[in-house]
Order: sequence, then structure tokens, then C-alpha cells
Amino acid sequence: MIPATLRKNLRFPAIAAPMFLVSGPELVIATCQAGMIGTFPALNQRTSDGYVEWLNQIEAARGPDDAAYGVNLIVHGTNTRLMDDLKITVAHKVPLVITSLGAVKDVVDAVHSYGGVVFHDIINARHAQKAAEAGVDGLILVSSGAGGHAGNQHPFALINEIRSFFKGTLILSGALSTGQDVAAALMAGADLGYMGTRFIATDEARADAAYKQMLIDTTAKDITYTDAISGINANFLTPSLVNNGLDPNAAKDPKHKIDMAHELNPDAKAWKTIWSAGQGVGSIHEIMPVAELVEQLSDEFAAATDRFFKTSAGFNL
Ligand SMILES: Cc1cc2nc3c(=O)[nH]c(=O)nc-3n(C[C@H](O)[C@H](O)[C@H](O)COP(=O)(O)O)c2cc1C
Repeated sequence: MIPATLRKNLRFPAIAAPMFLVSGPELVIATCQAGMIGTFPALNQRTSDGYVEWLNQIEAARGPDDAAYGVNLIVHGTNTRLMDDLKITVAHKVPLVITSLGAVKDVVDAVHSYGGVVFHDIINARHAQKAAEAGVDGLILVSSGAGGHAGNQHPFALINEIRSFFKGTLILSGALSTGQDVAAALMAGADLGYMGTRFIATDEARADAAYKQMLIDTTAKDITYTDAISGINANFLTPSLVNNGLDPNAAKDPKHKIDMAHELNPDAKAWKTIWSAGQGVGSIHEIMPVAELVEQLSDEFAAATDRFFKTSAGFNL
């Protein structure tokens, strides 16, 4: 089930996922105007004051027909801004808060205090169980092939296992690139789709032009899954590893850890010049405005559901 505050004005059942260095207010505003939930990581602004500025910008641009928006908070000891950013989030009554890494009851309670919704991202059932105990409203199942920090479990395995003990909202993440992919996610038991990589290839994304072009030029075979770059397993565009002087085969070998100090060129940085993308890149053929992309996704979604009903009608179930 989708919480009522997020259901309002939702015309395409998916969330444009928060992406480090990529999602800013332009992407959020355009996504919400198109009828899909737009989000950004609070840490995309260098300071908490900057975070407030972006929230003000988004709030000022919002129209009565816009879909809800959300922010991503990293709940981890290394995020020294968490408490400040949480206070700001509460003061602005941000409709959706996506927590990553830690699922903490105090954070959930703070968001619930003003009627906000908390979704938490997980890669396995153990993390899902902990987040459920913390009282989150929804779980984002980050399956294999996702951009960013991806899991390694098949989406069907995750959905079925987690649905057996969690009654809240399920959001499926991982290589969803088309409207039919989102239809398939819903058919498999998710309530919403979660799309990251597909939204990097939009005019409004704050990604380098060469990064966007690389999404067009690559397919799933060009994605390297490694923990060597950011310490946690994530998917990266292999050509961007090569462009930064890294050996993708070494990156995949757990015995051959990359020595970041020696093997990277001095300007190379995870996410900044070493670019992340999910295995869905093979479906990206052009860069377009968000409004056009969401319209295309909606058409694909409608065509897929139509095809499904026609096909299933032939089975006399
Ligand atoms: C470049 C990039 C940066 C990301 N940064 C974040 C982030 O800061 N916080 C977060 O919760 N997820 C982050 N993600 C993960 C996405 O929110 C989402 O789970 C993922 O993109 C979905 O898979 P897809 O890219 O195959 O659609 C990032 C993904 C990408 C591609």
C-alpha cells in the first residue's frame, strides 16, 4: 500500500531515487511536476544551510498538482550533520524521508511526529527485519544490478522473502529503466518502483555531459560491481574506472584490493570522476527532459499492463 500523503497527485507509481552529486532541486521539481516522487540526498548540499536553501527552492516551486517529494538522510556515525539535518527536515515537514545505512527508531519517530513517511533502503532480509523493528513505513529493496551501493540478491527473492514478514510499503530498486519494468515490479508485489540511473540521463540531472553520454554508450556488460572504490559494493561504469587509471579486473578480485592512494590519479574520486550506474544502462539511448521521460515511462507502463491483461485472458485462469 502507498501512504496517502505520497499517493496524492501520483500519476506514475515510482520514485526518482536520490543520487549523490546528481540529484538537485531542478530534478526534484521537474519530477514532482511530472507526477512522480522526486528526491535528493541532503548531503548533496555541502552545509545544512545549503540544505535549507534547496528545501525552500523546492517548496516555492511546488504547484497544487505536484507529486510529493523526499530527502535522503544517511544515518551513520560518520554523518556529523545528521541531527541538524533531521531538525531541518522536521521543521520543513518533508513528506518522505529515505534513510540509508542505519534504521533508527528516534529518527523514524521524529519524522512521524509531523506526519512524514520513512522508507529505508536494504539489500537483504536481515537489514529489512531491523528496519521493520525501528518502525519504518516502507522498505526499499535494492536488488542486484542497481546503481550506487547495490545488493546481490534477485528482486523476486527479496520481494517474496521480505513480504512474508513486512506489511508496509515495498519499493523495488535495481535496473528499473522502463515503464514495463515498473509494471513488472508492481506485478511481482512491490507498491512502487525506484529509478536512479535512468534519471541521470535527463536534462535536469546535475551530472557531467560526458557521464550522461557514457550511459548512452554502454550496456550491462560495462558495469563493474566492486567494493574497491567506496568500501561498500557498488556498481560503476567500467569505462570511467579505466579513464581514472584503474584496472576493472583487479577491482573485481577480492584478493587484489585497489590501493586508493597509489592506483588512482590524484583527481579521481568515487562518484565524482568514477561514475556509478546500474545494469539498466543498456535501455538508455538518449538524454531528455524529465517531463518527456515520465510521459514515456507512463506510456510504456500502460502498454505493458494492457499486454499483460490480453495475454493472461488467454489462460482461462
Ligand atoms: C550515481 C548514483 C548515486 C547514488 N547515490 C545515492 C545516495 O546518495 N543515497 C542513496 O540512498 N542512494 C543512492 N544511490 C542509489 C539509488 O538511490 C538507487 O537505489 C539506485 O540508483 C537504483 O538503481 P538503478 O540506478 O539501477 O535504477 C545512487 C545511485 C547512483 C547511480
